[in-house]
Amino acid sequence: MTDPGKPISEAKEVSKSYSARVGLGAGSGKQKSVQAVDRASIRIEPGESVGLVGESGCGKSSLGRLLLRLETPTDGQVWFDGEDITRFKGRKLRKKRRQMQMIFQDPASSLNPRFTVEATLREAITAHKGKLHGRQLKAHIAALLNMVGLPITALNRQPHEFSGGEKQRISIARALAVEPKFLIADEPVTSLDLASQGQILNLLETVKRELQVAFLFIAHDMDTVKRMCAKTAVMYLGRIVETAPSETLFRDPKHPYTRALMLSQLSHNPDLRTDLYLLPGEPPSPLEPPTGCHFHPRCPYADIQCKTLVPEPRQIGASHIVRCHFNFDGNQKSEPQGIENTLKISS
Ligand SMILES: Nc1ncnc2c1ncn2[C@@H]1O[C@H](COP(=O)(O)OP(=O)(O)O)[C@@H](O)[C@H]1O
Ligand code: SF4
Ligand SMILES: [Mg+2]
Repeated sequence: MTDPGKPISEAKEVSKSYSARVGLGAGSGKQKSVQAVDRASIRIEPGESVGLVGESGCGKSSLGRLLLRLETPTDGQVWFDGEDITRFKGRKLRKKRRQMQMIFQDPASSLNPRFTVEATLREAITAHKGKLHGRQLKAHIAALLNMVGLPITALNRQPHEFSGGEKQRISIARALAVEPKFLIADEPVTSLDLASQGQILNLLETVKRELQVAFLFIAHDMDTVKRMCAKTAVMYLGRIVETAPSETLFRDPKHPYTRALMLSQLSHNPDLRTDLYLLPGEPPSPLEPPTGCHFHPRCPYADIQCKTLVPEPRQIGASHIVRCHFNFDGNQKSEPQGIENTLKISS
């Protein structure tokens, strides 16, 4: 049992930098450090669904991998179910990891191509429960297939015999086989066709409701997160710039980046706020992050303070945290001047 009030998963000011070779030609070029995650804090309660959104390359998957301790942070702490697991290793870490699972963007590359569905699920169940008797094992596998909407005839087939949506159902079944307390779905429908996307989202909603498992839902699509998650965190160049209950965030976004992201994605929404604005410029490279607030080269409100001082997270409402020097209520900052309509949000 999990104690009430204790998060199932938490990152406390966690950072991760990677070493990357920059320059042309194999073996040539300079080694540079990429700060993929920069003092990010996120908290997921038992049974809660939290969305993590932001442009491609902003560090969402890296933060997900840190929460599962598939990576070791450069700095900060990772907690799981009341324990600091930042420095866990070996068997101790593997035992913890079984309680957390990841559903990847590309199910084809996350499934063993030589394993039948039965072998994939048997391996996962055995890792969790030890060796089961034949009948018990069969019943367990049948229940998993039923949960993810696959027929029993799927058992003897290999991944290449399934469509993309069906492969994602197999990887969801495999994740559920270990009865996890926490699941990360990293862009789970991005690689699927439109019809399969809807079906897989419905399935994840059913899993969430019926199994009460906590979710981190990584996406670059705000609509999906709005639908699936009670809370949303917005990431920009390694930093979490805004976190709020989804209802608040989508009704009243505060951070200039959140507002711009919404404008780019919700332009078909009739409730769209009229004071949202379009952004100039491309996202900067994480190899050369801007000084101060990472968003300042694209922010129409930026001033000298933004260029030199890193904004710290500030609580501005119930569970609403913003990483910006300014409030955007009242007239603390005037509306931006001369903004070109050249929004480029990559995905
Ligand atoms: N293993 C790695 N080695 C070097 N750089 C990495 C590695 N993983 C991620 N990065 C870099 O870290 C940044 C964040 O990547 P990622 O977490 O995959 O972002 P997102 O999931 O938001 O697209 C990117 O610049 C990416 O190139
Ligand atoms: S700190 Fe400054 S540059 Fe950054 S988002 Fe806020 S106003 Fe814009
Ligand atoms: Mg990613």
